[in-house]
Amino acid sequence: MKPGVLFALPLLLLYHAYTTRATDRCDDSAEISPRSVSPFPPFDANYASILRYRRSFGVNLGSVFVSEKWMSPSIFPPNATSELDVASGWGSTSCASQILENHWATSITEQDLYNLRSIGINSVRIPIGYWTLCGAQPELCENTAFESVAAVYTNAWSYLVDLINLAAEYDIGVLVDLHGAPGSQNGQPHSGISDRHTGMFSDSASWDKTIDVLKFLAEQLCEVTNVVGIEVLNEPANDKQLWNFYTQAIDAMRSVSSCAQTLPLYIHDAFDLQRYAPFVAQRNDFVVLDHHSYFVFTAEESNESASNLTQKLLTVVQPTLANPSLRGNLVIDEWSCALTPRSLSYESDPQAARKTFCETQQAVYQNTSAGWSFWSLHLEQCHADWCFTAAVGRALPATFFPQKSYALDNGGGRSRRDEVEHRFAVIAARWKRDSGDPHQRSWNLGYSDGMETGGRFAAAGSQLGFVGQFMLEQIQMHGQDVTPGTEPDYQDGFREGLSDSQ
Ligand SMILES: *[C@@H]1O[C@H](CO)[C@@H](O)[C@H](O)[C@H]1NC(C)=O
Ligand SMILES: *[C@@H]1O[C@H](CO)[C@@H](O)[C@H](O)[C@H]1NC(C)=O
Ligand SMILES: *[C@@H]1O[C@H](CO)[C@@H](O)[C@H](O)[C@H]1NC(C)=O
Ligand SMILES: *[C@@H]1O[C@H](CO)[C@@H](O)[C@H](O)[C@H]1NC(C)=O
Repeated sequence: MKPGVLFALPLLLLYHAYTTRATDRCDDSAEISPRSVSPFPPFDANYASILRYRRSFGVNLGSVFVSEKWMSPSIFPPNATSELDVASGWGSTSCASQILENHWATSITEQDLYNLRSIGINSVRIPIGYWTLCGAQPELCENTAFESVAAVYTNAWSYLVDLINLAAEYDIGVLVDLHGAPGSQNGQPHSGISDRHTGMFSDSASWDKTIDVLKFLAEQLCEVTNVVGIEVLNEPANDKQLWNFYTQAIDAMRSVSSCAQTLPLYIHDAFDLQRYAPFVAQRNDFVVLDHHSYFVFTAEESNESASNLTQKLLTVVQPTLANPSLRGNLVIDEWSCALTPRSLSYESDPQAARKTFCETQQAVYQNTSAGWSFWSLHLEQCHADWCFTAAVGRALPATFFPQKSYALDNGGGRSRRDEVEHRFAVIAARWKRDSGDPHQRSWNLGYSDGMETGGRFAAAGSQLGFVGQFMLEQIQMHGQDVTPGTEPDYQDGFREGLSDSQ
C-alpha cells in the first residue's frame, strides 16, 4: 500500500462513519410537515409587570436554537462550526430538520424547568437566531445566508413558543435574545455563520432586515405574560454605528403597538459599559444594559491567579458596575465559573478557590445589578465551570431565593398581610401629620408606594429589581402630586418603604 492510501484510509472510515451516522439518524426522503403553533395564554398585565420588574436569578438556555459546537457537538456534522453548517451539512434539509427538531424538542425538559423553579431560578434567557423565524415569517430569511436552508426551520418558531409556554407553567420569565442577526453582528460562529464576517452594520439590507426581525419579535411577544423582554442584539461588534442602530431598532420596536411602548428592551454593551451606559441614562423608557462578565478570554486574565481575579471582582468590577447613571437598569446576563487551568494552577486548593471566585461573582452581580443569568444550563460535556447543573450546590449555592422573602403567612405570629396593614397604619398616622411641606409630602408618598410595592413583590415570592425604573414611572404617574424638585425626596421615601416592607 502506498503511504497515501494509509493516510486516506482513516479519512475514508471517518467519512463512512459520518454518512452512516447521518442516515441512521434521519430519513432523507421524509417531508418536513408544518407543526401548529400553540397560542399563548391570555395576557395578564399585572402579573407581567411583576415578572418584568422583579429581580431575576437566571440561566441561559444556550445552544438550543443557536447551536454551538463546544456545547452540543453531537448535532454537528464533521468540520461544521456554526448553525449554518449544521443546517446545510446533514445532506438534505429534511435530514437537518429532523436532527434539529429533535434537538429543539428535547434539549430542555419540563423536569429542567421544575428543577430550576424549585431552587429559585426565576428567569431564562433564550438565544435565538433570525433563522428561528424562517417558518413563521419567511421573508425574514429571504436574501440571507439561511435562505437556502429556510425549510429546516419550518417549525423552529413553534418549538420556541412551546418552550416559552412551558416556562410560564413554572412562573419562569423569558428573555428572548437575538443572538444571530442577518449579516452577523459580530462575525462569531455563535451568530450562526462560519466565515467570520461581520456584515450587519455595513450592509444596509442586513441592517433593515434585522430591524424587521426585531419588530416581528416585539409584535409577537409583547403581550406574552412571561416574556420579560427582548434583547436587541447579543455581543455586537463595538461598531461606530451601534449606538445609531440601537436608537433605530428601539424606535421601530416601540412603534409596533401600544404594548411595545413599555416592553423592556435589553441592549448589550459591546463589552464597553462606559460607552453605552449613557445610552440608557439619557432615556426614560424601560431600556436595560446587559453586560457579560468572563475571566478566561484575555491573555492577561487567563494568566492571573483565581484569588487575584476574586480580588479584582471586588476592587475593579464591582465599582465599575455600580454606575449610578444607569438607575439600576443593568443585568449581567452571561457569566460562568470558568477559570483557566493556569489561573487555578496558582492555588493550593483549586476547588475552594473556584468556589470563592464563583460565589463572589454572584454576590457582586447581585449587589450591582437587577439580575443575572449564568451561561449555561446544559452542555453535553457538563462540568462545573460552564454548566449550571454541575455548578449548583458546588461552586454555586444550592438555592437562589431573594435574601429576604416571606411566605404570605409564615406560621408563627403576625401574617405577612397583617404586617403590611400594620405598616400602613403607621404611614396613615404620618400622613395626618403632613405639614404641607412638599418635600415631606413627596417623601410620604414615596414611602407608602415603596411599602406597597415591596409587599406586592414579596407576596409573589419576588423582590423588586428595577427599582430606579419603577420609581421613575411612579413619579411620572403621580404628576403634580410629586412637586417638581422633590423627586429625590420621593425616591428616599420609596427606598425606605421598600426596605421596611422586606
Ligand atoms: C474536513 O476538513 C478537512 C480540511 O479542510 C478536509 O481535509 C476533510 O476532508 C474534511 N472532512 C470532511 C468529512 O468533510
Ligand atoms: C502569560 O504567561 C506566560 C507564561 O509565563 C507568558 O509567556 C505570557 O507572556 C503571559 N501573557 C501575558 C499577557 O501576561
Ligand atoms: C497577584 O497579585 C499580586 C498583587 O498585585 C501580584 O504581585 C501577583 O503577581 C499576582 N499573581 C498572579 C499569579 O496573578
Ligand atoms: C454588597 O453590598 C453590601 C452593602 O453595600 C456590602 O455590605 C457587601 O459587602 C457587598 N458585597 C460584596 C460581595 O461586595
